[in-house]
Amino acid sequence: MKIAQVNSETVDWDLLILADPSEEVIASYIDNCIIFQLYEETFPVAVVALLKLNDTEIEIKNIAVDEEYQNQGLGTDLIHFCAKQAKQNGYKKLWIGTGNSSLSQLLLYQKLGFRMSYIKENFFVEHYDEKIVENKIPCLDMVMLYKNL
Ligand code: ACO
Ligand code: ACO
Repeated sequence: MKIAQVNSETVDWDLLILADPSEEVIASYIDNCIIFQLYEETFPVAVVALLKLNDTEIEIKNIAVDEEYQNQGLGTDLIHFCAKQAKQNGYKKLWIGTGNSSLSQLLLYQKLGFRMSYIKENFFVEHYDEKIVENKIPCLDMVMLYKNL
């Protein structure tokens, strides 16, 4: 596998949509992101998009692994990669947000040292046309977690 920096035109949108079902929402942040894609040969298998919030804080806005490659450690590797890159570039805090119903993501991020900070109440109600339900739970709020670098 190799990792390469891509941009909003060369990134694989099928991957981005796995993490964020609204193309409109993705379009609102992707042009301003630093994006890395992981390849198996020439096939893109995972993506991560980072958005600078200020001089000391940066957020993983989108992280996705192709379904056939999930649960093999690639998401973990990508988050470690982001934390390392961010630290090297002087950032002190790495943020990540996910839906209240995204239980396996909340589990993974906390296993990797992220702590819950606050919620963006009704984020998914206000920004998404379709109702989202996961684990029999309506997805309403965005849970924001951070990791000190
Ligand atoms: N119960 C318990 N543990 C679980 C469950 C579950 N239901 N599901 C997964 N896990 C565990 C795995 O066992 C593993 O833990 P381990 O390292 O202790 O064995 C861990 O969760 C998964 O780790 P990885 O294999 O590193 O993760 P993966 O490569 O699958 O990437 C990701 C994680 C990015 C969430 C991937 O599954 C994915 O792309 N999902 C769809 C898109 C998505 O939800 N993206 C995140 C949205 S939020 C955002 O983008 C900011
Ligand atoms: N992943 C997904 N679903 C799960 C998991 C899991 N890891 N573990 C349990 N569930 C689901 C079950 O499938 C079930 O859902 P379903 O109705 O959709 O099938 C549900 O969780 C459990 O429901 P009940 O059987 O009604 O719950 P139970 O009788 O076990 O009571 C309680 C829950 C009170 C938390 C009990 O397990 C308990 O006493 N735990 C130990 C004490 C405790 O933790 N108390 C709460 C502390 S917080 C407080 O007190 C305010």
